[in-house]
Amino acid sequence: MTGGGPVPLRLLPETSEVSAEGRLRIGGVDLVELCAEHGTPLFVYDEEHLRRRCREAFVAFGPGVAYASKAFLCRAMARLAFEEGLRIDVSTGGETYVALQAGVPGDDLVLHGNNKSDRELCEALGAGIGRIVVDSFDEIDRLERLVPRVAGAARPAVLIRVTPGIEAHTHEYVQTGHEASKFGFGLRSGAAAEAVARLRGPASPVELVGIHCHIGSQIFEASSFARALAVLAPFFAPLGLSELVVGGGLGVAYVEGEAAPSITEWAAAVRDAARDAGIDPSVRISAEPGRSIVAAAAVTCYSIGTIKHIPGIRTYVSVDGGMSDNPRPVLYGSGYEAFLARSVPAVRPFEASVVGKHCESGDIVVRHAALPEDTVVGDILVTPVTGAYGHSMASNYNKVGRPAVVFVRAGRARVVVRRETYDDLLRLDE
Ligand code: LLP
Repeated sequence: MTGGGPVPLRLLPETSEVSAEGRLRIGGVDLVELCAEHGTPLFVYDEEHLRRRCREAFVAFGPGVAYASKAFLCRAMARLAFEEGLRIDVSTGGETYVALQAGVPGDDLVLHGNNKSDRELCEALGAGIGRIVVDSFDEIDRLERLVPRVAGAARPAVLIRVTPGIEAHTHEYVQTGHEASKFGFGLRSGAAAEAVARLRGPASPVELVGIHCHIGSQIFEASSFARALAVLAPFFAPLGLSELVVGGGLGVAYVEGEAAPSITEWAAAVRDAARDAGIDPSVRISAEPGRSIVAAAAVTCYSIGTIKHIPGIRTYVSVDGGMSDNPRPVLYGSGYEAFLARSVPAVRPFEASVVGKHCESGDIVVRHAALPEDTVVGDILVTPVTGAYGHSMASNYNKVGRPAVVFVRAGRARVVVRRETYDDLLRLDE
């Protein structure tokens, strides 16, 4: 359990306000009223917060910086990030499709993936994809076969994904920079050098423009990125390439007591590290943040359905969602804060486990939550910092429909993803 004091306001979206009665407003919209209108669970994104983070990334890294759409994607989000000057990083045919349907030009997409299929590559090439981040020798074979067929004379611009052999301090499931990773070409093994040789060779159908690495996610220490750059620089510098992408991975604070660098601080640390590593100042150093753009922009609102006290053991507060809208606690043991939309400044001396409505005991939203003493059935319970990898990893487990997503701004709310209905649950049945 964290503290017992009021929820730290710095974890809430930037336009959050507390009304005279203690109720939460985001983007000028009262959340209790919003939930009455749209139902729960509900993802509420602060549109101004999203736009500020996109602008911050654009200013910090310059043109070419991409939003990693796996963190949260729908047409409205792709459009918003693009409007604010960001490219969109997509890692599957599905993400590519959604971004294109949002009106983002193919040229502003960056395609990732450790196992891109023929179809995904053809669709991307057909859309005039801006960058492909090449991940394996099999993919090089595929590009040699497909580019002449699909792209004709156009030579797609590619980067090579390199694993620098760095273990970032983060959860094992989201570490990706180590030599044993399924992603990219190893540096030490010589695979990265061999990939460069092939993509620069006479048979190459592509134009090699840069090197990419992504060392992991939810990383709090800028020094992890500096270590990656220090390892990459001796490989990168002699190649004379113009682009170096450090991936995403900047961490965010989820609970009281955590602190993460800002995107601006991250970019400055990356640039300093590149300079110290002797990388030519003309090289475009860029990134593809996901979590740091969207995580803190959103909260999830749930309704409390039952409260069960087990004397001497614990109290369960059950809400109307759970692992289907936020699998992160189950997958990574991630922690969250919880509070009530009607009493933001309330102290939270009441210890409880906030659990979902799914048919397993592991269905935990907040294992050791601190809540106000007067928490009752029917209250709107809010978990902040749920904008990344919540809706995007949501499922229909137990045939629970995925929640709606609402963007709020200047006193108005707009539904950007509607709530799934029972009919939606039958949509794919034959
Ligand atoms: N670029 C690449 C190549 C990536 O694989 C990722 C994330 C990103 C950028 C964006 O990273 P971010 O800035 O969001 O950390 N589901 C996990 C996170 C998985 C991240 C996968 N790759 C979670 O909920 O923590």
